[in-house]
Amino acid sequence: MDIIDLRSDTFTQPTDEMREAMKNATVGDDVFDEDPTINELQETAAKKLGKESSLFLPSGTMGNLVSVLTHCGRGDEIILGDRSHIFVNEVGGISALGGVHPCILSNKDDGTISLEKLELAVRHTNIHYPPTRLICLENTHNFCYGSPIGIDYMAEVATLGKKNNLKIHLDGARIFNAATALKVDVKKITQHVDTVMFSLSKGLSAPVGSIICGSKEFITKAKKNRKMLGGGMRQCGHLAASGLIALEKQSKRLHEDHENAKIFSKTISKIPVIKIDLKQVQSNIVFFGMNSNKISGQEFVAKLGDRGVKILETQPGFFRAVFHRGVSKDQALPAAKAIQEILDE
Ligand SMILES: Cc1ncc(COP(=O)(O)O)c(C=O)c1O
Repeated sequence: MDIIDLRSDTFTQPTDEMREAMKNATVGDDVFDEDPTINELQETAAKKLGKESSLFLPSGTMGNLVSVLTHCGRGDEIILGDRSHIFVNEVGGISALGGVHPCILSNKDDGTISLEKLELAVRHTNIHYPPTRLICLENTHNFCYGSPIGIDYMAEVATLGKKNNLKIHLDGARIFNAATALKVDVKKITQHVDTVMFSLSKGLSAPVGSIICGSKEFITKAKKNRKMLGGGMRQCGHLAASGLIALEKQSKRLHEDHENAKIFSKTISKIPVIKIDLKQVQSNIVFFGMNSNKISGQEFVAKLGDRGVKILETQPGFFRAVFHRGVSKDQALPAAKAIQEILDE
């Protein structure tokens, strides 16, 4: 059976070119900065994202954690959205391992946080308060319909940060999706943040890895924190070899995934029990509701699975379908048709 796996873009397989490059990579001990392929990847990434320096890490979760640990000390406060990946899905690492206190503000459906609320949340000096150090944004915003966040908003948060002496960290796991959706060079987004994490392993199709970018001073400190967390790897140039292809080539094809997400969404939007706002479908992530009294969410997912279409129920009656290199244009429509057939039964 033809499997159409829409659970996440983390399911992408490395390309043949990546597999070949991994096999042939020149490697060394990266803890000693002696892996030439890692060094090349880090230099390429820093240049592409417009920052002085960068660091390769095994995962996005570790990239965000190392970034927060590098910006903050124990007892510092960071401001982040209630639907941000760092708050929802990273096991509370910033508090458990960093002693960092989260100040949670509500995310709007477009992934932004009200500027007024941000301004009000910044602590002034008071013996009772933890000091505010950092604002974390996410772009595209996974749990806010995969929304790309506009450059103007990023600029306004940067201004607010400077005014209040705060740093800005961007969870840019899918920053190349954001740049694709906004039709801008990725640097237009990153110019407004101090540090950014992005994933090589999602839509970009590398098997493993994320990168954080920032100033030289920040990356030197971050490297020590990565080591502390056990993320100092040795001959990981094999992974960097696939990362270079991810960065140079795969970042250029993401518009295909965005188009497929639109084709799928438009088709399912015609099904009466499906609730979807087509304006919210702007990248590779599609969220939709299903409100049928004939079939439960779990049965819906199971029946789709029987037809080879895999999706996630993220909340009761609410589903996510993610488009990526492993799902072709020819599969977007059949996936939507499978939904239609099950709900017509
Ligand atoms: C927005 C966002 N940030 C961070 C991560 C964490 O990345 P990883 O799975 O590599 O730890 C994810 C993973 O899906 C994500 O969607």
